[in-house]
Amino acid sequence: MSEQNKKTVEVYEKNASSYLKSSELHDSLDVEKAKRKCEKLQNFIKKNIENFPKGSKGFEIGCGDGSNSEYIKSLGYDITASDVADDFINSAKSKGVKTIKFNVLENEFPDKYSFVFCWRVFVHFTKEDTLEIIKKVYDALDDGGIFIFNAINRETRDVDDEWVDFPNEYHMGVERYYKYFSKEELDENISKTNFQIQDFHKEGGDNSNKWLVYVLKK
Ligand SMILES: C[S@@+](CC[C@H](N)C(=O)[O-])C[C@H]1O[C@@H](n2cnc3c(N)ncnc32)[C@H](O)[C@@H]1O
Repeated sequence: MSEQNKKTVEVYEKNASSYLKSSELHDSLDVEKAKRKCEKLQNFIKKNIENFPKGSKGFEIGCGDGSNSEYIKSLGYDITASDVADDFINSAKSKGVKTIKFNVLENEFPDKYSFVFCWRVFVHFTKEDTLEIIKKVYDALDDGGIFIFNAINRETRDVDDEWVDFPNEYHMGVERYYKYFSKEELDENISKTNFQIQDFHKEGGDNSNKWLVYVLKK
């Protein structure tokens, strides 16, 4: 586990409630935009998991407020939402989702899954951390299972990584470690496993390239 992620986890453990408040405030400033973003993500999730039979097991790493797991549950899947911060776990729990406190770099997956979902979490890991995670998720998936994740695209930033507290929806009052990945870096990590890239695209931001989005298949 990198020092960068270790320190970032400590920040989330103490300050997750500020993150929840600023996200809510940010969404309330442009309700229609927030709704469009949410529906787009939900459609993407549904498209990728709908071939698994209802009741199949899924696991979310770094669930934040738990709304994505809540949606996955509403589709009829047996989803477990996880995070390192109690306030996030309690938020997911209050939405009726099954939860577990789980640090992906320290803890073992409790079960095997059809799919693992990890949204806007790779931002807080070094390249070495992500290799460890991709290998670990591979082992936690059933054959034919998928790993859905995204990372911020290095092309849209002028640094490889930084400690920052963004002023808008991610505002917490404390800096966290952010890593910006090139597609080549992530592809190199993926090539060290037996995962196949089932889908890749860029999305978000002014030029529709803020995020690198991957769906990997075991
Ligand atoms: C930017 S937030 C994204 C939250 C949520 N997935 C979303 O899209 O709204 C990053 C999340 O990663 C979690 N996180 C950071 N390091 C982690 C680790 N080592 N293991 C599990 N979760 C971690 C944080 O607690 C936080 O919930």
